[in-house]
Amino acid sequence: MPTGNGSSCWKTSIPEGRMRSLFRGTILHFLRDPGPEPDATAWQFFDDGALLVEDGHVVDVGDATTLQRDLPAGTEIVDHRGKLIIPGFVDAHVHSAQLDVIASYGTQLLDWLTRYTFPAERKFESAEHGALMAEMFLDRLLASGTTTAAVYPTVHKQSVDTVFAAAAARNLRMIAGKVMMDRHAPDYLRDDVVSAEADNRDLIARWHGKGRLSYALTPRFAPTSSAAQLEMTGRLFREIPGLALQSHLAENADEIKWVRELFPDQRSYLDVYDHYGLLGKRAIYGHAIHIDDADRARMAATGAAIAFCPSSNLFIGSGLFDLEQAKAAGIRVGLASDVGGGTSLSMLQIMAEGYKVLQLRRQNLNPWRGFYLATLGGAEALYLEDKIGNLLPGKEADFTVLDFAATPLLKHRTEVSRDFAERLFALMMLGDDRAVAATYVMGQPAYQRAQ
Ligand code: GUN
Ligand code: ZN
Repeated sequence: MPTGNGSSCWKTSIPEGRMRSLFRGTILHFLRDPGPEPDATAWQFFDDGALLVEDGHVVDVGDATTLQRDLPAGTEIVDHRGKLIIPGFVDAHVHSAQLDVIASYGTQLLDWLTRYTFPAERKFESAEHGALMAEMFLDRLLASGTTTAAVYPTVHKQSVDTVFAAAAARNLRMIAGKVMMDRHAPDYLRDDVVSAEADNRDLIARWHGKGRLSYALTPRFAPTSSAAQLEMTGRLFREIPGLALQSHLAENADEIKWVRELFPDQRSYLDVYDHYGLLGKRAIYGHAIHIDDADRARMAATGAAIAFCPSSNLFIGSGLFDLEQAKAAGIRVGLASDVGGGTSLSMLQIMAEGYKVLQLRRQNLNPWRGFYLATLGGAEALYLEDKIGNLLPGKEADFTVLDFAATPLLKHRTEVSRDFAERLFALMMLGDDRAVAATYVMGQPAYQRAQ
């Protein structure tokens, strides 16, 4: 069925079954980290740009005049001129089962888990609840411009099924895995080593590598897994090719003290994970606020990545992540909402919180680096940069269309901006899901803002 611009030569110009679309707008994407003093060779910017997509993949990106010159007849033209097209946001650490927990008052990590989070996760015993919340979660991600995430459902196997099923139905590139907790958690949320291994193996067989989905071994954090469970996790990580692994690391002072008591033989919190073989490529740790140079060197050497969660770190009162030190050590860093610890799913809001965290560290997050972290940086942290993260030819065509006029204040600040960097920074500081005009997954519309 032709979806083209009405041209009668559609059938003769594009091979049968092919879908080719040209998206017009201002285009920005990144080739590498622009760094603290932005290096303009790290990105491509096309003020009057065009993105050519065929069968869900990028064919070309560049200036509209150039791309339109040799356009095959029958190509659909989608006009987003005046708006900004960027790669879909990547949320490198988020809890799909914590939408009920967002904005919970008055506690820090360990109390917050006990008082609010564990009771909310209990509801996912019901597959029906899980299915409803998975739909809502992915709809909210798309409405925020996020097309890929590393997701924590709950300890319940069916909570993973519902997230993967909902992601598959939307053709999203998603990473998720069953949360493991075999101690220091309420009875109603505890698994054991044998059942956790069996559940992981079954879920991996059914979901890992299916379409755009991949599986992450997900021990919640060192305090809630026994040595035997961590050992089993390391065994699966080594045994099954291509698995991801995600957990929490060095987020909060009381948590760190507890880990020291539970694992007295390990030099540091990171060493606990290292001891059980849980570092390496495709391992990603949320927070990593309170780590030292030896930890950083070890993360860089093994390829383990960090999910920087500034909104959560401020809201739960955990501390200030040191981006410069992590990057200087050569660690892959992505940006993450960590909802429900974080207070927004919007990666624009998360960038803004990141800016404030780094201000308190006397570091600057320039807008180029902010948008890099929320797109290609996240893809690199998840080892997905060969598939997503920017709009180079061959990449999967996941992208987001942002509106500089989304709110009166953003529109005004945009109008008085002297250059594009200033406009981009205003978007990063003042934008949220209202600034997302549309989100595309594999070149297909997946979300359209109500006008
Ligand atoms: N540490 C262990 N579990 C969690 C969680 O759900 N959220 C956050 N922010 N930290 C954790
Ligand atoms: Zn988390």
